[in-house]
Amino acid sequence: MRGELCIGSASFLSLVALLLLIFMHVGQINTSTVPRSISMMKVNVSAYGVAIAAATTPDPVTGLYTDNASEPLQQHLGLRNFYDWGLYQYCAYVNDTHGECSPHVTANRLQPYEALTSDMNDNFVRLTNSLIPATTFSDSQYLGEFTRGAYYLLLLGTIATALAFFTGLVRHAFGFFVSTVFAIVGSVFLLIGAVIWTVIVKKAEVINGYFIPTTPPVPLGVEVSVGNGILLAWAAFACLIGSVIPYMISCCTYRG
Ligand SMILES: *[C@@H]1O[C@H](CO)[C@@H](O)[C@H](O)[C@H]1NC(C)=O
Ligand SMILES: *[C@@H]1O[C@H](CO)[C@@H](O)[C@H](O)[C@H]1NC(C)=O
Ligand SMILES: *[C@@H]1O[C@H](CO)[C@@H](O)[C@H](O)[C@H]1NC(C)=O
Repeated sequence: MRGELCIGSASFLSLVALLLLIFMHVGQINTSTVPRSISMMKVNVSAYGVAIAAATTPDPVTGLYTDNASEPLQQHLGLRNFYDWGLYQYCAYVNDTHGECSPHVTANRLQPYEALTSDMNDNFVRLTNSLIPATTFSDSQYLGEFTRGAYYLLLLGTIATALAFFTGLVRHAFGFFVSTVFAIVGSVFLLIGAVIWTVIVKKAEVINGYFIPTTPPVPLGVEVSVGNGILLAWAAFACLIGSVIPYMISCCTYRG
C-alpha cells in the first residue's frame, strides 16, 4: 500500500508538471480565451502616447495607436496598447480581449523594441529611437539570444517531463529508474530555462522607471511585467523535482 502511494504521488506530480508546461506552451498561440491569458512577458504601452505628446508639445499626437484590432502587425499601421509574448509568437491587443498575433516561429526571439517600432509610422519610430534609452529593453540581440536558448531548455524539460510520466506508468522497477532519471534531467532543464526567463524579464523591467527629460519629467509609459507563463515554468519545475524522491523510492522498492 505504501508503495502504491509512492507511485501514485510520483505519477500525479509529473502529470501536473506536464499539464502546467502544456499551458505554458500554448500561451499567445492565438487570441482565444486561454492562450490569450498566458504569456511569458507583458508590455503595456497604453501610456506611451502621453509621453510622446509631452515630447512633441505643442504639436498634437495623431495616428500613434490603431483601435482596429484586426489590423496586421509589423506593418507600421499603429501601436496597440498591450503586447504579450509567448514562446512561439507575440500578440498585441487594442483592449483586454481583441488583438492580432505575429507569425508562429519556433524558438521565437523576445524583441520588444522591434515589435513596438514595427507598428509605428516612421515619424514615431524616429521619435521613439530618441526617447527610449539604450537599456536591456532595447537590446534585442541580448534578449533574443537568451530567450531563444531558454526556449530549447524549456522544450527539452517538457519532453523529459512527458517521458518521466509515461515511463512511470509501466509498472516496473526499471521503468521507475528511467522515470527518476528523466525527472532529474527535466528538472535541471526547467530550472535553467525558468531562471533565464526570469532574469531577462527583470532586466527588461528597467524601462519601467524611466522618465523622459521634459520639464516636468513625464513617465515613458512603457511598462514591462513578468507573465504567468514564467510562473507556470517554476511551478512545473517544483512539481517535477517533487516527483524525483517518490520515483526513486518506487524504483528501489517496487517488486511488482
Ligand atoms: C496599463 O498601463 C496603464 C497606465 O500606466 C494603467 O492605467 C493600466 O491599468 C495598465 N493596464 C494593464 C492591463 O496592465
Ligand atoms: C480593420 O482592419 C482590417 C484589416 O486591415 C480591415 O479589413 C478592416 O476594414 C478595418 N476595419 C475598420 C473599421 O477600419
Ligand atoms: C475591444 O475592441 C474590439 C474591436 O475594436 C471591440 O469590438 C470590443 O467591443 C472591445 N472590447 C472591449 C471590452 O472594450
